[in-house]
Amino acid sequence: MSGETWTCPEHGIEYGDGKPDPRQLTWTCPACEREAQCQQREFEAAHRRHRWWDRNSGIPARYRAATPASIQPLTTSAKALARAVEGYTADLKARYDAGDGLLLIGPPGLGKTLALASVINAACDWRGGCAYAVWPDLLAELKAGFSGPKDDDRRQAIERLRDVPFLALDELGVRGMSDFDHGELFALVDYRYRETLPTLVAANATPANFPTMVGERVSDRLKETCAQIVVAGDSLRGRVAITGPDALTRPPEELIVRTHSHGQWRDRKVYAPDEGRFRA
Ligand SMILES: Nc1ncnc2c1ncn2[C@@H]1O[C@H](COP(=O)(O)OP(=O)(O)O)[C@@H](O)[C@H]1O
Ligand SMILES: [Mg+2]
Ligand SMILES: [Zn+2]
Repeated sequence: MSGETWTCPEHGIEYGDGKPDPRQLTWTCPACEREAQCQQREFEAAHRRHRWWDRNSGIPARYRAATPASIQPLTTSAKALARAVEGYTADLKARYDAGDGLLLIGPPGLGKTLALASVINAACDWRGGCAYAVWPDLLAELKAGFSGPKDDDRRQAIERLRDVPFLALDELGVRGMSDFDHGELFALVDYRYRETLPTLVAANATPANFPTMVGERVSDRLKETCAQIVVAGDSLRGRVAITGPDALTRPPEELIVRTHSHGQWRDRKVYAPDEGRFRA
């Protein structure tokens, strides 16, 4: 033990042999060490958020670039939709805490899917783990799973969405749902309602026939927790395209964190989590 000590020029903290920090990280300024670990955690969390969004969020390729700003105010209806989505995404934490969703109703081609995707993209960036799904596709996947083995992953198609922080269900207004289908939808919507988890839905319906399409009990719960936006007008499909880079950018592969150690500034390299496993 030399008992040698140094002083961090940034934090003014004396550290070294004579003054080991409580976590035994001797020879590094404890404040630098704390900041480095904080940066590393945020770096890893950003990678996890991006990876989830890329592989598990269900966002269709066409909507990877969707942000609230992608919704162009081309018509009165689009203006209202854009404003609603801007407002909704302005404070996702408040929406999450309150369990507030969005209910988008109207004919095809009016930006409902675009709006759902832009919210889920933003939510995936905010806290990760959020999902977009097309309701009839979920049902089809679930049913296909019943013809597979008992542990067929597809049997979890709906179950695995129960607890995601923000869930968007698209194409809810499909005619001819069976009792089984209604039961599955009710179980999902009701669970999220009870847990105050935000659910956003879009339906090719009218405010008048929506309750019949999804069932009164589902409709009641959604109306209580969702701001309803009715879109109208001529389809914008094919008239506007969403362009631009992915809504979530992949964080860099490496992060350099700087600490004052043993009397000098040292750079430490932090690698993206699981990089080895996913490297092509
Ligand atoms: N207000 C808008 N601004 C930009 N693009 C739009 C707008 N409304 C619709 N679109 C585009 O038109 C197409 C159809 O929109 P979509 O969201 O699929 O409609 P819906 O889900 O209501 O049927 C998509 O390519 C979408 O990006
Ligand atoms: Mg749609
Ligand atoms: Zn320091």
